[in-house]
Amino acid sequence: MRSFATSLAFVAGAYAQSKASADVNTGITFQAYSDTAGSGFSFGAAVPTTIGSDFIGQIVAPNNGSGYAGVALTPLMANSLLVIAWANGKDVVGSTYTASGYTSPTHYSNASVLIEPIAKGTFTNGTHLSYTFLCKGCVQGGITSFSSSAKDITMGFAMSSTTPTNPTSVESAGFTFHNIGFGNFGLTLAGSADYPKWASMATAVSASPISVPASDLTCSTRNVTATVSNSTYDYIIAGAGPAGIIVAQRMAESGKSVLLLEGGKASTFAQGGRSTVSWNDTVTQYDVPSMAYYLSTASDTSEYCTDTASQAGCILGGSTMVNALMFVRPQAADFNDKWPTGWKWDDVAASAAKLYERNPGTTLASRDGQRYDQGAFTAMSSFLKTMGWSQVDAIESPNEKTNVYSFPAWDIQKGLRAGPVTSYLPLAQAASNFKLTLNTKVLRAIRNGSAITGVETQDSTGARQIINVNAGGKVILAAGTMSTPRILINSGIGPKAQIDIVSASCTGIKLPAEADYINLPVGENLRDHPVFTLTFNITDNSNASTSMVASQFTNPSTTDIDLFAKASGPLAQSGQRLNFWTSLNGTSGTRFFQGTVNSPSAGLVRAKIYLTHGSTSSGSLGVTSTGSTKFITEPLMNTDEDKAAVVQFLDSMINSAKNSSVLSLASPTTGSKLVSSFTSGSHFIGTAMMGASNDGKSVVDTDTKVFGTDNLFVVDGSIHPDLPTGNTQAIIMVAAEHAAAKILALGSGSGSLSNGTSTATNSPSVPVKIGSASASVSAAQATSAVPAAPTPAKGDDACA
Ligand SMILES: Cc1cc2nc3c(=O)[nH]c(=O)nc-3n(C[C@H](O)[C@H](O)[C@H](O)COP(=O)(O)OP(=O)(O)OC[C@H]3O[C@@H](n4cnc5c(N)ncnc54)[C@H](O)[C@@H]3O)c2cc1C
Ligand SMILES: *[C@@H]1O[C@H](CO)[C@@H](O)[C@H](O)[C@H]1NC(C)=O
Ligand SMILES: *[C@@H]1O[C@H](CO)[C@@H](O)[C@H](O)[C@H]1NC(C)=O
Ligand SMILES: *[C@@H]1O[C@H](CO)[C@@H](O)[C@H](O)[C@H]1NC(C)=O
Ligand SMILES: *[C@@H]1O[C@H](CO)[C@@H](O)[C@H](O)[C@H]1NC(C)=O
Ligand SMILES: *[C@@H]1O[C@H](CO)[C@@H](O)[C@H](O)[C@H]1NC(C)=O
Ligand SMILES: *[C@@H]1O[C@H](CO)[C@@H](O)[C@H](O)[C@H]1NC(C)=O
Ligand SMILES: *[C@@H]1O[C@H](CO)[C@@H](O)[C@H](O)[C@H]1NC(C)=O
Ligand SMILES: *[C@@H]1O[C@H](CO)[C@@H](O)[C@H](O)[C@H]1NC(C)=O
Ligand SMILES: *[C@@H]1O[C@H](CO)[C@@H](O)[C@H](O)[C@H]1NC(C)=O
Ligand SMILES: *[C@@H]1O[C@H](CO)[C@@H](O)[C@H](O)[C@H]1NC(C)=O
Ligand SMILES: *[C@@H]1O[C@H](CO)[C@@H](O)[C@H](O)[C@H]1NC(C)=O
Ligand SMILES: *[C@@H]1O[C@H](CO)[C@@H](O)[C@H](O)[C@H]1NC(C)=O
Repeated sequence: MRSFATSLAFVAGAYAQSKASADVNTGITFQAYSDTAGSGFSFGAAVPTTIGSDFIGQIVAPNNGSGYAGVALTPLMANSLLVIAWANGKDVVGSTYTASGYTSPTHYSNASVLIEPIAKGTFTNGTHLSYTFLCKGCVQGGITSFSSSAKDITMGFAMSSTTPTNPTSVESAGFTFHNIGFGNFGLTLAGSADYPKWASMATAVSASPISVPASDLTCSTRNVTATVSNSTYDYIIAGAGPAGIIVAQRMAESGKSVLLLEGGKASTFAQGGRSTVSWNDTVTQYDVPSMAYYLSTASDTSEYCTDTASQAGCILGGSTMVNALMFVRPQAADFNDKWPTGWKWDDVAASAAKLYERNPGTTLASRDGQRYDQGAFTAMSSFLKTMGWSQVDAIESPNEKTNVYSFPAWDIQKGLRAGPVTSYLPLAQAASNFKLTLNTKVLRAIRNGSAITGVETQDSTGARQIINVNAGGKVILAAGTMSTPRILINSGIGPKAQIDIVSASCTGIKLPAEADYINLPVGENLRDHPVFTLTFNITDNSNASTSMVASQFTNPSTTDIDLFAKASGPLAQSGQRLNFWTSLNGTSGTRFFQGTVNSPSAGLVRAKIYLTHGSTSSGSLGVTSTGSTKFITEPLMNTDEDKAAVVQFLDSMINSAKNSSVLSLASPTTGSKLVSSFTSGSHFIGTAMMGASNDGKSVVDTDTKVFGTDNLFVVDGSIHPDLPTGNTQAIIMVAAEHAAAKILALGSGSGSLSNGTSTATNSPSVPVKIGSASASVSAAQATSAVPAAPTPAKGDDACA
């Protein structure tokens, strides 16, 4: 599946306040936003003095004859009303769309919603397309659009270089990934008495001239055949994100044979990635720390998953390659409050120490010992100091999480993006019993009752293969919170309603017999951090002028390029400049907040405020008939207690700013105005939750083994029963280290081949029909073989 707009919470360049701007073509005054990060996209909105259900919008984007440009009427892509436009020759075609997740949108049809173009503002010229439209019935509020009572709204935009499949049709399908740019932006709506005059310029368009099928399902994939691999392994691990790499390396260290299967391509230069930046051809866009804030508009955007309910990285390293590099070591309470016995801080502390030895994180990234671009830190720290907060080092004092601030803690080493791809993977690659296969997705675990015999995979050509585990071997899922549930459901494990979607679908997935379904709450307990934004003006202009702007990172100076070559300078830092944490005690427990602060442009300080540990909202994830995952219930801000805590905390910051000599709010607002305007932190956890027993809420036991199975494990963010205080990657790595220890302690089972180096007969690849796989699988199971030669560690990234 392909993907469109966004729930990205980290696009620094893409969040800005709007300006009033008069459009020369139509005479309409729009509140307008222009992307400064390179896409050339702009959007304007006009509303009446009292907002009802209509508004006028204008999409303007560079046009060379192909591509599309669109907006989401909420910050989140899933379930939002989308307006998308593209050029069809000299004409402009546009309409309303919607998507169930981070997937290709479909036409939105609702008799009460009408989109009517305004001719004077709808055209292509030599350089641009302009689509100006009256959107009738579009202001619905809730998860569909901004609400008629909100003045400060947050929206999303997306641009692609590929035109949808059927460019003449307003109902076209086939929107490919928004590779030119995407992000969130803010608009401050201003009603105009001229609105009725402007709206009267709109004219209805006739219905779609060409009708297209509502779905592209043909079921041609139902009878796909798979070959059986002639290699078998003690451990097969699905997904090379942080959890998968750490567990795979620890399994390989035990001497057993290990196959790590990753759906995506290579990422870092050292691992063979070649999406290099324009100014240095031996580092990729993933390697350069400062690119973390500009990846969504970089030249290559193929690293984002296009089959998940929300944003995640589908590339070697998983979301550690697309994330903003925050490395917040968990505080003890993150484990102590809700994790089961065996997983309290005292239990996991040794695993955390093992992680930090290899992957410590840092609050001082630049090798020359300098901190660059400190305007935001100077202003914000001085503001927080007057509030009585104190400075700590987040790496040294992870348990200090009330009324504190720190230099940001980053996963950066040697001036480059760090994480398990550099701190663990080369160690595994140096062992002959380890194999990494890229561009290969695990579709399902193959089951014989409670026993897992292997996995079925699909490579980038669509070819399918069955790979078996040795007797006593184990299959370990690490595909991430957004994807692991799909593998479980495809294996007949999860709510029956979800398995039935697979059964009725055309994904060609062979399910076990219904009697063998394992009913577990897969997809439930989905949790995430909501993010609220406060923007301040720095009132001391001498300090304001020091802020670096987007172009200094995307098109850096020779000075900064030279510093980077020495692992130093602003390009060796991520985008944050200060983090703060605090907590609030309320009637329903303690809630923590994290602030992530930077300066998006001179004179401004932006604080992204996350509601974190202690929040009580949750949602659920399911699958679609086309093989994507989608939100059944959105996970954010659905309890009154969470809402009350957010209002209270935002008001306390706003009130303190009213009294500050350092900062002032950029535009007046209140907690209750902001509480419904949040984006996703992309910090998803919980969709295969760990529990002490099979209690109807849990999916895995405290060994991380899936209930009802003999040898299926989950080790990624899905198993976390609770949200941490900081961003998720560090705690996911700690838990993965601990999971590895638990799995190794179980041994490799009776009758196991001790490792992959034993001699055995090799069988040729046997084509089998999925529908009759089991006979061939058991035949293949009798065979084991030497795994293919491991990929040697490349480049100079050998592990310290
Ligand atoms: C935009 C963004 C910004 C973020 N910023 C931060 C931050 O600054 N700090 C922080 O701590 N956290 C951040 N996070 C969150 C953090 O990166 C994730 O929580 C973490 O990477 C999750 O690790 P994981 O191992 O559970 O799964 P993932 O990182 O999702 O890795 C899963 C891997 O499995 C692969 N995969 C998926 N399905 C299959 C399949 N069927 N077969 C084979 N392979 C498969 C994927 O390609 C991927 O490589 C951010 C996340 C996003 C999306
Ligand atoms: C338009 O530009 C994009 C890159 O932005 C390119 O991929 C595409 O081929 C171009 N199309 C035409 C018709 O020139
Ligand atoms: C094309 O239209 C856009 C949007 O109105 C405008 O900014 C641009 O200057 C126009 N270009 C030409 C060549 O007229
Ligand atoms: C259709 O649009 C109307 C008007 O905006 C809205 O009230 C209604 O909820 C929509 N119906 C559906 C099914 O989304
Ligand atoms: C799949 O195979 C079965 C039996 O081999 C056959 O009956 C069925 O028609 C095939 N379906 C498709 C869509 O080819
Ligand atoms: C396994 O099969 C592949 C072809 O599918 C072949 O190239 C390879 O040599 C075989 N490996 C062994 C160890 O026999
Ligand atoms: C695998 O097992 C064999 C026989 O027990 C042993 O000789 C060999 O050293 C082992 N290999 C590894 C990598 O542990
Ligand atoms: C401005 O910056 C200087 C150091 O660069 C600092 O001493 C001073 O406190 C700052 N002023 C404010 C108001 O932040
Ligand atoms: C590119 O960056 C690397 C750091 O990884 C550095 O060693 C190299 O000198 C840089 N090359 C150039 C041309 O700046
Ligand atoms: C909240 O309550 C706990 C005790 O339950 C206490 O230790 C903590 O200091 C309190 N935090 C705040 C911010 O008052
Ligand atoms: C504002 O500052 C004054 C003087 O420092 C102090 O008395 C007052 O409590 C402050 N008000 C708030 C809301 O912080
Ligand atoms: C904040 O600064 C912007 C210009 O950067 C200005 O337009 C705005 O009025 C300022 N806000 C306040 C409250 O001073
Ligand atoms: C399934 O497992 C049973 C033992 O529980 C075994 O007798 C049977 O042969 C297995 N079937 C296959 C197809 O491997």
